[in-house]
Amino acid sequence: MSTQTAPKSIYTLNAGGAPSAEVNRLNKQQSMIQLVCPNIPPSVLAQLPPSPAIADVATGSAIWLLEVSTTLPSTAVLDGFDMGVAQFPSAESLPANVTLRVQNALDELPEEF
Ligand SMILES: C[S@@+](CC[C@H](N)C(=O)[O-])C[C@H]1O[C@@H](n2cnc3c(N)ncnc32)[C@H](O)[C@@H]1O
Repeated sequence: MSTQTAPKSIYTLNAGGAPSAEVNRLNKQQSMIQLVCPNIPPSVLAQLPPSPAIADVATGSAIWLLEVSTTLPSTAVLDGFDMGVAQFPSAESLPANVTLRVQNALDELPEEF
């Protein structure tokens, strides 16, 4: 996990405590959501192409993207975007097809997207 703190933002849960506290909260929240709702609804999953490209905007700790990466083919292209890196897991811990980038969702995306 990054030791950097998030830039000042309207997302107040990034402020104050250690980034790990918010990472823990997000990851617990994801476990709870999983109990009632699949990461990708079956009707959507059934329509995905063999190598889907998925953008997870405001990815936080990337927990959803990382879980999705275990159920999709390794050829899926999985990009996570967040305005801060404070909650990102280390780049070395990511699967080869998962990339995390700093990006404000309110700004224009780079041309490659
Ligand atoms: C509640 S967390 C959700 C994280 C993740 N989607 C999840 O469900 O676990 C919200 C995230 O949105 C990010 N965020 C808020 N405003 C944003 C913006 N304008 N552009 C990019 N990320 C933003 C915050 O930094 C924070 O990581």
